Amino acid sequence: MNWGKKDLLGISELSKEEILFILDSTESFKDISKRDIKKVPTLRGKTVITLFYEPSTRTRTSFEIAAKRLSADTINISADTSSYIKGETLKDTARNLESMNPDAIIIRHTMPGAPHMLARIIGSSVINGGDGAHEHPTQALLDLYTIREKKGQLDGLKIVIVGDIAHSRVARSNIFALRHFDTEIVCSGPPTMLPPHIETLGVKREYDLNKAVRNADVIMMLRIQKERGGTSFIPSTREYSTLFGLKKEHIEKAKQDVIIMHPGPMNRGIEISDEVADGPHSVILDQVENGVAVRMAVLYLLIGRES
Ligand code: CP
Repeated sequence: MNWGKKDLLGISELSKEEILFILDSTESFKDISKRDIKKVPTLRGKTVITLFYEPSTRTRTSFEIAAKRLSADTINISADTSSYIKGETLKDTARNLESMNPDAIIIRHTMPGAPHMLARIIGSSVINGGDGAHEHPTQALLDLYTIREKKGQLDGLKIVIVGDIAHSRVARSNIFALRHFDTEIVCSGPPTMLPPHIETLGVKREYDLNKAVRNADVIMMLRIQKERGGTSFIPSTREYSTLFGLKKEHIEKAKQDVIIMHPGPMNRGIEISDEVADGPHSVILDQVENGVAVRMAVLYLLIGRES
């Protein structure tokens, strides 16, 4: 496939073939991180900027590691140490960064659509590292890669997504990706955290977590998005944890080889118990490891190939 895109802004704009192409491309990058010398010259001479207006541990770090392992030069900008604090607009920041001729800008922003605006006004590749409650495309790609790695396929699976789905860009991007495949997607959480017309996205709704997890192949847990007002949608975190916190008893209702996923950061004791997070079914750290390889593939496909 000739993937001639300039930007990666969302999963909703990708076809099934494009998603599979990225996942297949990822295979060749995974091995690099296991070598003694974790560096190849693929992106030598390229410049990658991460521009983050929201906190991040995994996404920012793994993009930086991915770029460095491909020999790109990397620059990290956090909003709280940038001229955003002095009142500079996102447009002006983008135009000023563009003047320094980077090849790619990875942006995380509180405003849905911020990466799309950037992509319209600059010539560099733009990658969405999470825009408000809208999309987090590389998270969904690494999640699908992990599911396929552990289950051998993406078809024929029951995938349960649990938690604050209304405010979750991870849930949206995963649903957009998974509905290309022959999967049963079940969303579970308090009524206030499931969007009213969620079925129109091709998923089922189940408020009872005990029923939702029956025969599940994959359980994907989400945290409450406090920064988007998530806690105001539940009476208390104690009640939430009782009804929607994943515990060993839920694992016993799922398939024997169920995998437990979480995009991080986890709130232990709220949406997931320690014994589940650290237990034999957890693939949470595999997701993080795969995130580097997926982001290496995305960077290579966007800025590493002759067009
Ligand atoms: N999964 C994820 O987006 O984690 P960070 O917020 O730490 O980047």
